[in-house]
Amino acid sequence: MKIEDFLRENACLIDEYLQHHFSPLSTTSSLVSPILYGVEGGKKIRASLTLATGLSYGVEKKHLLPVAGAIEMIHAFSLVHDDLPCMDNDDFRRGKPSMHRAFGEAMAVLVGDALLVEGLRLIAGNEELIKLFGEEKVLDMVSVILKALGIEGMVGGQVLDLEGEGREVREEEVWEIYRKKTGSFLTASILCGAIAGSAPPQEKETLKNFGILLGECFQIKDDILDVTQKKEVLGKTPGKDKIQDKATLVKIKGVEESEKIMKSKWEEAVRLLSSIPRPFPFLLEIARFVIEREY
Ligand code: IPE
Ligand code: IPE
Ligand code: MG
Ligand code: MG
Ligand code: MG
Repeated sequence: MKIEDFLRENACLIDEYLQHHFSPLSTTSSLVSPILYGVEGGKKIRASLTLATGLSYGVEKKHLLPVAGAIEMIHAFSLVHDDLPCMDNDDFRRGKPSMHRAFGEAMAVLVGDALLVEGLRLIAGNEELIKLFGEEKVLDMVSVILKALGIEGMVGGQVLDLEGEGREVREEEVWEIYRKKTGSFLTASILCGAIAGSAPPQEKETLKNFGILLGECFQIKDDILDVTQKKEVLGKTPGKDKIQDKATLVKIKGVEESEKIMKSKWEEAVRLLSSIPRPFPFLLEIARFVIEREY
């Protein structure tokens, strides 16, 4: 199966799963339609990382859908808040108006909150998941996700990202921003698949290091595309990192050198993954997609 087909199929499964889950609530809550607006579209790479990892450990895709759906809701929360006027001030996301442009700023803050909390609830209070994987693993997934989002993770990274605007930054600061704002949650999405599949501790450790490298590659590519890609293909407004003088590797090294660094990080990531005596066909293909993607 081609990786583009794997990603597309997973994106459909996740969108369908979440629509099915939230539609019954749409008569009682006006939050449902913006929640679905937030999760719709996008590449669904993090959900696919969860599914791909689980598959390598023999977990059926359908059993992981609530976890992958939760991961995408939480990712959507991060995008909705990232786009707010007080953050990156982006009007365009996934080829349509960003949440605050479509539903207003106050609603965008609340929809972000709802995506985060309801996303976590898809895992935490899910009796079916507990029956399938056991309470301990479900709790483990929640803990891994929360750690990845906290002070040492995404939120901490977003703070550093804002504090890094408009000033000179050292390369080491950029790596810290990348690892925290992007790498930590991307890694958590891989680890959730590994937890579900009872991966041995040593393999989890290797997957974690693979995830951090892949997260770095992911953000380098995002920053390169901000410079090189058109709005129609990107689905968001390009050229904004320069205008806002964001702390990116591209700012320090330029596009060409950043591409080289990304390629060598990717090679290291692939080497690490290959050190686990188990095939990871989809994970490897997603890793390639991360650095070759055009949007
Ligand atoms: C964008 O993530 C945010 C970053 C961490 C750079 P994606 O590029 O995965 O966004 P979608 O989900 O495909 O829209
Ligand atoms: C966002 O990084 C990282 C998040 C945690 C959301 P960016 O600000 O570069 O992401 P885009 O370019 O807006 O998608
Ligand atoms: Mg940002
Ligand atoms: Mg942004
Ligand atoms: Mg960006």
